[in-house]
Amino acid sequence: MVPLFDLTRQYQLLKAELEPVVLAQLESGGYVLGPIMDELEAQCAQELGVSHTVGVANGTDALQISLRALGLKAGDEIITTPFSFYSAAEVVADLGAVPIFVDIEADTLNIDPRQVEAAITPRTRGLIPVHIFGLPANMDALRAIAKKHDLFIIEDCAQAWGASLNGHAAGSMSEAGTFSFFPTKNLGACGEGGLISTNSAQVAEKCRQLRVHGQSRRYFYDEIGYNSRLHTLQAAILKVKMPHARDWNASRRRHAAHYAQLLEGTPYALPVETPGAYHVYHQYTLRVPQELGREHIMKTLAERGIGHAIYYPHPLHLQPVFDHLGYKPGSLPISETACEEVLSLPIFPELREDEVEQVAAALKAAL
Ligand SMILES: Cc1ncc(COP(=O)(O)O)c(C=O)c1O
Repeated sequence: MVPLFDLTRQYQLLKAELEPVVLAQLESGGYVLGPIMDELEAQCAQELGVSHTVGVANGTDALQISLRALGLKAGDEIITTPFSFYSAAEVVADLGAVPIFVDIEADTLNIDPRQVEAAITPRTRGLIPVHIFGLPANMDALRAIAKKHDLFIIEDCAQAWGASLNGHAAGSMSEAGTFSFFPTKNLGACGEGGLISTNSAQVAEKCRQLRVHGQSRRYFYDEIGYNSRLHTLQAAILKVKMPHARDWNASRRRHAAHYAQLLEGTPYALPVETPGAYHVYHQYTLRVPQELGREHIMKTLAERGIGHAIYYPHPLHLQPVFDHLGYKPGSLPISETACEEVLSLPIFPELREDEVEQVAAALKAAL
């Protein structure tokens, strides 16, 4: 038996550190924003190497609020990846703008900058690359395109806390970065949470305003906003957890290296790490060539009690909600094939070496 993830292991290790902090916060009576939030935001800004961070209720709101802060309007177009969680495309559409999907790179599974330029129209306002599974997208190429066409970039870093490219943290390489503190993320709260990072004082100010209903000063409203504060109790928890995140990411990388060593020479296509990238393996996702039959491999894993998942089984451009955009099967073939082949294995910091060995043995047995 190897679980896909197990949050109780981390809790047991952190219990002595976490519980007094949570109790002290409860005793304090300070339950909304407050000094602990300011401290967490400063700590996150320092860790990411940006001037400002703004805590919000979740990673989806972080995307929506940063899009608003960067001035997205109804009818604008945002170019993004079809191989990701739904949020980025969802919030673009929710704001009355149009998600434009372009294909991914077969090896990194990240948005392919070569496809981006061809998709730019006079209505394009920005790009949302997702650092998928913790591997930074090709930001140098994306930034060059954005600069040439006067577009903004929001990095969706929900899966990439602590990842970097040539020494620059994910979330520091564009107009804004958005993070999720969903419990299973590399840095996870004990509930929902999110964060926006930016080097622009103006964008940060706008995000702060939008997270409290768009109010400019107490009970004065300039625009429609959101009720989207990061919970103070979660901020207190994250303040304890954040200093551990580098070690946790290092453990994930050790597990990934172990998987790579054990699976070398098999027909599985293993995750890649591009030059200059520090991959934080939010997921360890390999590809099962179609002739091997992913269903058959998953059956063997299930028989041995080994957790596994398909992230993602269906690309965003073919979701019913986007039917009206006119994409058809075959429109973005690399993403579609990836959805047929990907398989994510157990990876979390507290996973044991013998568990990695059990997973690899099951994958080999399935062949
Ligand atoms: C790539 C990506 N973007 C956005 C989100 C949304 O984050 P949240 O669940 O905190 O709203 C997630 C997480 O689920 C994600 O994986």
